[in-house]
Amino acid sequence: MNYSNNRVIELNNWAHELSAINTLHELDQYKSRVLSEIGAQMKLMRDLDAVAKKEFGAKINKQKQEIELLINNRREQILEQELLSKLSSETIDVTLSGRGNNIGSLHPITLSLERMIKIFQGIGFSVADGPEIENDYYNFKALNIPDNHPARAMQDTFYTTSMNVLRTHTSPIQIRYAEKRTPPIKVIAPGRVYRVDMDATHSPMFHQLEGLWIDEGISFAHLKGVMIHFLREFFNKSDLQVKFRASFFPFTEPSAEIDILSENGRYLEVAGCGIVHPKVLENMGIDSTKYSGFAFGIGIDRFTMLRYNINDLRLMFENDLDFLKQFQGAK
Ligand code: FA5
Ligand code: MG
Repeated sequence: MNYSNNRVIELNNWAHELSAINTLHELDQYKSRVLSEIGAQMKLMRDLDAVAKKEFGAKINKQKQEIELLINNRREQILEQELLSKLSSETIDVTLSGRGNNIGSLHPITLSLERMIKIFQGIGFSVADGPEIENDYYNFKALNIPDNHPARAMQDTFYTTSMNVLRTHTSPIQIRYAEKRTPPIKVIAPGRVYRVDMDATHSPMFHQLEGLWIDEGISFAHLKGVMIHFLREFFNKSDLQVKFRASFFPFTEPSAEIDILSENGRYLEVAGCGIVHPKVLENMGIDSTKYSGFAFGIGIDRFTMLRYNINDLRLMFENDLDFLKQFQGAK
């Protein structure tokens, strides 16, 4: 082979074509064309002499590396352009309202309960609790409700066994708390209670808050003072109309039910109360000739209905988000 053969093999100037390529598909076609042309040129090298072969081989390898580098750079440019045009076509409408963050809220019953506890703690009451599954003794007998007493029919009871019940009121906590202590006793006890009961103002599970204050010389006047203070604070209404309606509970004597005037002009019963019956004091191990006291049981759910103007008690237990969301930030 003479040197003139060398001139047969001319390296193409592929690079200038690259700038005209704008899609990945075109680029792939271009790449395979270039590589096959390089392959064809390499085949022609067979006919060159050793010196020319070496020289041309080095040249074409260098050019192969260069063109591959250029192809890769072009590929990145194309990808970047595609991304930019995609971003500018997918515009964001900044006038649309956001999805928002959903911050939870406290249940209206929790709001009421916290408010009640704060008011009673402010006048010196401590807070206690007790079991929801209660035995016959604490739920009934110690509260002066003997077997077969008609008063048991006042509260339709869920029995778990023949001697155990889902507590029908928070009053058993009075006994459990006072039997372990000596006066002065000044305590409130909130909790869930259960009765076979269901309509717009009665729920089978509801909440009560029990109160008990025992000391020397406690009278009905103290009971009225504490309850009226509490009610006016709770409803934030200094002229709230409160009615003590004579009633009967086996564990208090005298007894009353407390009604308050609601927005719709009707009185709604919200609590039971009275002077602790001497027999109940004895069951607590307290000398009834020395001490006296009062007790009350508040229906927390009814207070919540009145405070937030809720017309159906059942709404509070359905966990409907639209209902619950209304209490965001409520006090
Ligand atoms: C009692 O449960 C007595 N233990 C209260 C008591 C305590 C009296 C201490 C004297 C001394 P009563 O059954 O009336 O009483 O219930 C008290 C309050 O709970 C009612 O005034 C009412 O507000 C509420 N309540 C009663 N039943 C339901 C119910 N099914 N759903 C929602 N609230 C209820
Ligand atoms: Mg009642």
